[in-house]
Amino acid sequence: MTKIRKYKGRIIGRSITEIYVRALHDTNLVLGEILIAGEGDTRFFLRVVDVSYGWEAGNAGWAIGVAGSMIEMEQSDRGFVMHDRARRNFEIGKCVIMGYTKQGEFRRAKTLPELFSQVFIPDADDFNFIKDYAGDLRVGKLRSGEELLDFEVGMGSGYIQSHIGIFATTGMGKSNLMKRLAASVMESHNVGMLIFDPHGEYYEGGERDKRGLKHHFRAKDNLTVFSYRKLSEKSNGLRINHREIDIEDLLHLFEFSQAQMEAAYALHNCFGNDWLKILSESEGAELAKEMPSSKFHEMTIAVLQRRARQILKQEIFHKDDTVSVTDAIITELKKAKVVLIDLSGLSGWRELLPAAVIARKVFDVYRHAFRKPEEFRSLPKVSIVLEEAQRVLGQLSGIKENIFTRICREGRKFKVGLTAITQQPKLIDEEIISQFNTLFVLGLADERDRNIIRSSARQDFSELSREIQMLQPGEALISSPQAPFAIPAKVDLYEDHIKNQKESVKTRDEIPSPDRNFFG
Ligand SMILES: Nc1ncnc2c1ncn2[C@@H]1O[C@H](COP(=O)(O)OP(=O)(O)OP(=O)(O)O)[C@@H](O)[C@H]1O
Ligand SMILES: [Mg+2]
Repeated sequence: MTKIRKYKGRIIGRSITEIYVRALHDTNLVLGEILIAGEGDTRFFLRVVDVSYGWEAGNAGWAIGVAGSMIEMEQSDRGFVMHDRARRNFEIGKCVIMGYTKQGEFRRAKTLPELFSQVFIPDADDFNFIKDYAGDLRVGKLRSGEELLDFEVGMGSGYIQSHIGIFATTGMGKSNLMKRLAASVMESHNVGMLIFDPHGEYYEGGERDKRGLKHHFRAKDNLTVFSYRKLSEKSNGLRINHREIDIEDLLHLFEFSQAQMEAAYALHNCFGNDWLKILSESEGAELAKEMPSSKFHEMTIAVLQRRARQILKQEIFHKDDTVSVTDAIITELKKAKVVLIDLSGLSGWRELLPAAVIARKVFDVYRHAFRKPEEFRSLPKVSIVLEEAQRVLGQLSGIKENIFTRICREGRKFKVGLTAITQQPKLIDEEIISQFNTLFVLGLADERDRNIIRSSARQDFSELSREIQMLQPGEALISSPQAPFAIPAKVDLYEDHIKNQKESVKTRDEIPSPDRNFFG
């Protein structure tokens, strides 16, 4: 049976990199809309990247003249009738060729669709090939402009160790997307996810009718939360002991002079992992004397000491060696759970230091397991999620190498990936950004933020800048290694997702099984 497709216009030019479509009169083209062209079993997929006015007239000043006549007629109370408006007045869409399908298989286009080919709105069937690229961690629906198609899209859990970037201007839906992605991780239960939450929005959901991860129907089995403040009877205390703080963790986060750095290493050499506690509890002058070379100035030691005392005064950090939850966190991740670390109420180094210590411990456990192939094979991949990631992944001139940059460079091999969430990708080092294999790009207002993505993403974002600028909250482009183009998506609102999931579980549960009926 031949399908009746919605006809939108015809191809009028121009090259393999720029296709122009003349739309039917009274038909609007939408930025980001997908159109198809082609006959037989070959379908070209075109994406509208710009829309302009078109008219059929001999001279370029025609529209100015017509508008002038309209104004004149209005002012003299005479009506204006444009003859042959349907022919003369229309929209022109500038499109890029995304690729074409032949017998259902998607390929990159090396040829042009025929000049004057008809273009149509695609049917859901035309996108069957998307199923191969949708991935198992679904986040929303395929989108053509503003229209949603009945295809779920997301990313492959097999790629989480190759790092994920979630980029959007404030309010465009980063946190919602993160919750939706964490929901998929809880549902698929085949990878671990460690989320650091600086705003306390992921567990409970925050204000009004917002829902959090605790409301997810798999939360009981697949979510574990740690917090230094009491969240609910389900939350575990967040405690790290002083021996777990590596000297490198501090050097990355604080500004130290050369002398202070040398003194810190000397203290570490002298007292091993107890250096921070001893430093915080001893008299500065005595310490300076106790150091083998005693070459450190009292003032230098005093600065370090102030820092050590400040750190160990924090509720999270304990002087008792037996107190720690990092092993418990790692155990949960190894069970492919979502582990949420609530750091709300903390900011600056108070938030980043616990995150760095925990991330490093996870990384070290995986790194060591790598040497034992059998054990390593049984470990699920994990992703470490960091909000405001530009703080630790900034331009290399401004930041030092730290555990998060290290994970970006080396984590893939050890099955540890980073999910970096930021409003300002332009502040992330370009080399680091090029390590992110999966990008979720939501609305980005700043051109410099869009440019940095253009230069680093796998798929060609060069023509999509305008669309990214115009995206509504929750509308995204997903660029991933397995997909041949950046897939346009509308992320599910997390609250809708868990409601729908609950309903579908309820419906499944309510269907009486034949056995139950049989045994009455
Ligand atoms: N997928 C979506 N569908 C519908 N509405 C959405 C979607 N995502 C976000 N929104 C709307 O936008 C609001 C802001 O979303 P969200 O808090 O996720 O943004 P954000 O990018 O994390 O912002 P911030 O930079 O302030 O952290 C939500 O409260 C919701 O109303
Ligand atoms: Mg947010």
